[in-house]
Amino acid sequence: MNTNTVWHNATITRAHRERLNVHRSAVLWFTGLSGSGKSTLAHAVEEKLYQLGCRTFVLDGDNVRQGLCSDLGFSVEDRSENIRRISEAARLLVESGVIAMTAFISPFRADRQKARSIFPHGDFIEIFCEASLAVCEQRDVKGLYKRARTGEVKEFTGISSPYEAPATPELIVRTGELELEDCVAQVIEFMERRDIFK
Ligand code: PPS
Repeated sequence: MNTNTVWHNATITRAHRERLNVHRSAVLWFTGLSGSGKSTLAHAVEEKLYQLGCRTFVLDGDNVRQGLCSDLGFSVEDRSENIRRISEAARLLVESGVIAMTAFISPFRADRQKARSIFPHGDFIEIFCEASLAVCEQRDVKGLYKRARTGEVKEFTGISSPYEAPATPELIVRTGELELEDCVAQVIEFMERRDIFK
């Protein structure tokens, strides 16, 4: 509900803040199945960016669901609302001059498209962490796939709830097959090609 509010224009803008940085701001939107390596990759990229002197922040599925989105479950509607809130949070980070990274399954194309649409053209970088269901299920780091197979965990992505792979992401990283180091290098190279670094 948006009633009787008027946008306040700041005198210090994103452009001013970006001038203090060695990079421009953007959002790296990692998407993929549970266990595909989104969080691991996002945090490893963050470590590399930190070494390069970049200002970063990772919004991570499991963590955000303990705070900002603690009222949401895994129905289609709740996942949509989850992604809407995350995209708004990422937009604030981008405005603040930071390189934002989001690590959410974000299984639905329409929700990712909506998220993309609130950013200026070129600022939303969708990174598909490609790992097959078989690989993710075999890893089963949190034991959730096993519980989803027995029906104990409902609406589990890839088992009892769909994952719509991106048709045209900015980058596909084969996290199911490659070493973490190589995945990080691919992301950093892509950022270089996109002139994220000054
Ligand atoms: S979504 O679909 O983008 O809203 O999901 P997200 O916020 O990324 O949360 C995914 C993490 O929640 C845990 N979890 C589940 N995932 C998928 N389906 C169901 N039903 C579910 N229940 C709990 C799981 O640990 C996910 O973490 P990752 O890091 O993806 O494995």
